[in-house]
Amino acid sequence: MNIVITIDGPAASGKSTVSRELARRLGCPWVSTGAFYRGLAYIALQMGLDFSDVDSLGRLARSPIWSVEMTAENTKVLFQGEDVSDKIAHDDVGSFASRISSYPVVRAALLEGQRRCFKPGLHLVAEGRDCGTVVFPEAAVKIYLTASSQNRAARRAQEQGSSEEQILKSQEVRDQQDSARKVAPLQIPDQALVVDTTNLSLDQAYSPGTQVCSG
Ligand code: DC
Repeated sequence: MNIVITIDGPAASGKSTVSRELARRLGCPWVSTGAFYRGLAYIALQMGLDFSDVDSLGRLARSPIWSVEMTAENTKVLFQGEDVSDKIAHDDVGSFASRISSYPVVRAALLEGQRRCFKPGLHLVAEGRDCGTVVFPEAAVKIYLTASSQNRAARRAQEQGSSEEQILKSQEVRDQQDSARKVAPLQIPDQALVVDTTNLSLDQAYSPGTQVCSG
């Protein structure tokens, strides 16, 4: 039987790193559902779309001019055939992605593509904000990763070579937006294992001795 493992959590909590490694160990694909929102936000920016024009964003979400592809390393976004995965990684794109992720029409359009990532005959590791609650509510294993705000901002600042203070500010706005939105907010799924990675290395996050809080 093939199963889905979901890993949800706030920005920079280590979801992608843990998902990539878990998928490698299981020999299955993994998907960052955030890449769908980031991809759409990046392309909307490139096209000069008004971020309050919900109808146009909904149409763009379903447009064939862009697509998402799973690879072992990352979740690739292709725009008019060009790989723009590096460009969507920036913190500013994350902030725009968070903004448009509150629109139900956008979420509904992207949900279909996210669910199609579960392919017959293969397990799937899916990470994001609502993977265990909305995208794959029947997932066999649900994990919620978290870490202190300071720690998450420090990780992201190091990755991107930008100011920790600036990242902390934008992260607070993003956490608030993602948790407070009406549709599919960031929350701990029922029966999820909650893992706080604040003081854990990647290896420790996998170790059987890891402190797991109740979900
Ligand atoms: O995980 P990430 O930082 O790449 O996600 C970018 C934004 O996309 C995040 O702030 C909110 C949105 N998102 C979402 O609403 N639902 C998901 N399942 C994944 C991401």
